[in-house]
Amino acid sequence: MKTAARLLTLLVLASACQTATEPGPVPVLKQRFEGQFWVGAAVSLPVLARRDSLVRTHFNSLTAENAMKWKSLHPEPDRYIWEVADSLVAYAHQHGFRLRGHTLNWYQQTPEWVTRDQEGQLHSADSLMALMKEHIHTVVKRYKNDIYAWDVVNEAISDDDSLLFRPNDFYLIAGPTYIENAFRMAHEADPEALLFYNDYSTADPKKRERILELLQDLLNKGVPVHGMGMQGHWDLEQPSLQEIETSIDAYAALGLQVQITELDINCYAYTEQEPQQAEQPWNPTLDSLLAQRYDELFALLERKADKLSAVTFWGVDDSKTWLSNFPVKRRRNYPLLFDSLARPKAAFYRVVD
Ligand code: GLA
Repeated sequence: MKTAARLLTLLVLASACQTATEPGPVPVLKQRFEGQFWVGAAVSLPVLARRDSLVRTHFNSLTAENAMKWKSLHPEPDRYIWEVADSLVAYAHQHGFRLRGHTLNWYQQTPEWVTRDQEGQLHSADSLMALMKEHIHTVVKRYKNDIYAWDVVNEAISDDDSLLFRPNDFYLIAGPTYIENAFRMAHEADPEALLFYNDYSTADPKKRERILELLQDLLNKGVPVHGMGMQGHWDLEQPSLQEIETSIDAYAALGLQVQITELDINCYAYTEQEPQQAEQPWNPTLDSLLAQRYDELFALLERKADKLSAVTFWGVDDSKTWLSNFPVKRRRNYPLLFDSLARPKAAFYRVVD
C-alpha cells in the first residue's frame, strides 16, 4: 500500500513536472495584431505545400514571392502563363487571405523583349507604353476581384545620391513618365485596387527624400497612388528605429497608407564595401539578438498602427529565404520568426508577447 501510494505520488509529481515544462499552446501571430494591421507572408506554391498549416495559422495576407512578376506571368510577347498565380489566388480565396499583387513594373525579373528589340536596341517610348498597357491591363483585370493592392512600380528611385531616378531601361526610354503611366494604367484596369510604390532603403534619409519627391510629384499631378511600400529588408542594427519611425511618419504625412511589404532581418551586416562575413551556425546569441530587434521593431510598428495597414514578411521560415543566397551564395541566414523546421523562435515569442 505504502509502495502504491508512493508510486502514485511519484506519478502525480512527474506529470506535474511535465505540465510545468510542456510548452503551452503557441500564440497566433495574426491574432496579436488583429484590428491593427494585416500580417502577411510572401509565398510560393512549394512553400504553401510544405507549410500550409503554419501559414494558415499565423498569417492573414499573402504576396506571391515570384509568381506575379512579369517574367513569370508573361515570358514572351504572346504568351501568358497563369497556372501558378491562379493556384495562389485560389488558395488565398479558399482560406480567406487578403492578397497583395507584386509587381507590375520592375527592372528585374522582366524579360528583355519588354524594353529592347532583338538587336538589343531600346524600344521607342510609344512601343514601351503599349507593351506596358497591354501587360498591366491583362494582369490587373484578371485578378480584379482577388487582389486588393498592387505594388505597381518597384524600385524606381536611384541609390546614388546624385541621381533621382534609377537609370533602368524604362527610364532610359521614357524618362520618369513610365512611373505615372504605370499607375494610371493599373487604375484604369481596376479602379478599386490600392496602388503602391514599393522600394528598399526607404528609411535611409537621403533615399527617403528622393522617394518623397517622387511621391509628392505624382500626387501633385493627380496620379492614382495610394500607398507606400517599405520593403523592410533590414538587419540587426540598421536602419535605426528612429529612422524607421521618421520614414513611416513622412510617407503617411503625404496622405498615403504605409505597409511594410518585405520584412526580414538579416543576421549579417550588409554593406557593399564590407568583406563578406563567414556563415554562422544558428546559435543562442543570434537568437537573442534577433529577438531583441524584432521586439523593438514590432513595438514601434504597433505604435504606428494607425498609419500602417499591413506588415508582410518576405518568407515564412528560415528554410527558404533569399538571404541564404544573397549577397553571399549558400550562406545560411536566419531572418524570420520561424526556424528552418518551422518552429517559433525567441523572436516570435517576443513579437506576440
Ligand atoms: C526585392 C523584390 C522582391 C524580391 C526581393 C528579394 O525586394 O521586390 O520581389 O525579389 O527583392 O528576393
